[in-house]
Amino acid sequence: MIETAKARPEDSTILGQMNKHLIEDEGHRNPMSVEELKVRMENWLRSDWEAVFINKENARIGYALYQWRTEPFDLRERSVYLRQFFVSRSHRRKGVGTQAFNAIKDAFWADAKRIEAEVLTKNKEATAFWHSLGFVDYSLSLKLTLE
Ligand SMILES: CC(C)(COP(=O)(O)OP(=O)(O)OC[C@H]1O[C@@H](n2cnc3c(N)ncnc32)[C@H](O)[C@@H]1OP(=O)(O)O)[C@@H](O)C(=O)NCCC(=O)NCCS
Repeated sequence: MIETAKARPEDSTILGQMNKHLIEDEGHRNPMSVEELKVRMENWLRSDWEAVFINKENARIGYALYQWRTEPFDLRERSVYLRQFFVSRSHRRKGVGTQAFNAIKDAFWADAKRIEAEVLTKNKEATAFWHSLGFVDYSLSLKLTLE
């Protein structure tokens, strides 16, 4: 049974560790250390970012990090920008991500008009995961790397 619980800034040590695994797994170029990620996470949680743990049998096995946003053209439309979503390696492909996403959506995002996530193009596994939840491709982010 999957449960969810709001994280506090004091929980940033474990969140920093999981963030490091997320960066490795998605193949991101971010080189930050676990300690730097912990500090960044704590600063985020002391500002307007929020995080929710994914728990199973009282163990923390993943998390979601998100921020509420409004549309600049309609301040009544609130959406959730989901920056990080992570299920620990040994718990994958068992429906945990799906159950957790739905539980977090019902418990914390009931007022949202939409949920937005970004995924690296090479992260095919996460792309398949978001598609399985009903997310559709919306924009394409482009980069030109200069010498
Ligand atoms: C992406 C992630 C959250 C998925 O969590 P999960 O608990 O394994 O997901 P689920 O078991 O609920 O999978 C639901 C469906 O998503 C798709 N899916 C999930 N992982 C997949 C994979 N590795 N390859 C292909 N499809 C996958 C499948 O359709 C799957 O259904 P199925 O198992 O019946 O085929 C997890 O792999 C993860 O944390 N990855 C590293 C971090 C990351 O990339 N996060 C997203 C950043 S944008």
